[in-house]
Amino acid sequence: MRKTTHTIKEYKKQKRKIIALTAYDYSTAKVLDNAGVDMILVGDSLAQVALGYENTLSLTMDEMLHHAKAVIRGARNSFIVVDLPFLTYQVSIEDAVYNAGRCLQIGASAVKLEGASEDILKTIKKMVSVGIPVFGHIGFTPQSVNALGGNRVQGKTAEQAKELLKQAKDLQDAGCFAIVLELVPSETAVLITENLDVPIIGIGAGSGCDGQILVTDDLLGKYVDFKPSFVKRYAELGKESEDAVRNFIYDVQNGNYPGINESFFMAEPEAEKLT
Ligand code: KIV
Repeated sequence: MRKTTHTIKEYKKQKRKIIALTAYDYSTAKVLDNAGVDMILVGDSLAQVALGYENTLSLTMDEMLHHAKAVIRGARNSFIVVDLPFLTYQVSIEDAVYNAGRCLQIGASAVKLEGASEDILKTIKKMVSVGIPVFGHIGFTPQSVNALGGNRVQGKTAEQAKELLKQAKDLQDAGCFAIVLELVPSETAVLITENLDVPIIGIGAGSGCDGQILVTDDLLGKYVDFKPSFVKRYAELGKESEDAVRNFIYDVQNGNYPGINESFFMAEPEAEKLT
């Protein structure tokens, strides 16, 4: 049975770590679901990791929905969050609710959006009021990469940590069921995690959060363009895949593939008619 916001919030109360990973396609979603992750995020990292864009800003709502549908078909038990792409929720509350609603219409459990400004808080309140569960995201927020001057650790001073704590509380008060906290010092993450009732899911935020989220392609060593320092690779699938393809090329060029076991043959009397 699919996990719900209630399940995710209960895990914090039980002090059970929440496990979240990204997926952008059916087969990856199935692997994550079978392995037992709690939450799958169809992250807008889809832009760089699966579509080859430079950053998340180029991703469109239609591209996101296309991939989200595949993920939803692949996962039966995990809670599924769809990331709202840049400009799909910042321009007007009406657009935002409509785009978030489209994610729920295709079967998503919730949407994620970045920031905690006054406008974003109003948007979240409206979404929550019409029954759309919202996952917040503060700290480093990739859709603001240009404004933040690159992938930089946020909340490095006590004052900045307190400002992030205020943002997290505002998101909780606006109705977010959980919050992603990205690229902050461990001390900042602990301060926020201990002072919030809703789960704080960290990425590059140390071990003190209620759960962890990573880009699956980073964890599996499939996305090799860039490796953030907080990532631990549990496999080297990028290299293994390249080696496998080189072996395939070698085998085809040297007549080793396809062999007898990978070919179909006529019954002998039929084959004789050909000669
Ligand atoms: O898009 C994404 O992958 C994210 C991270 C939190 C994993 O937002």
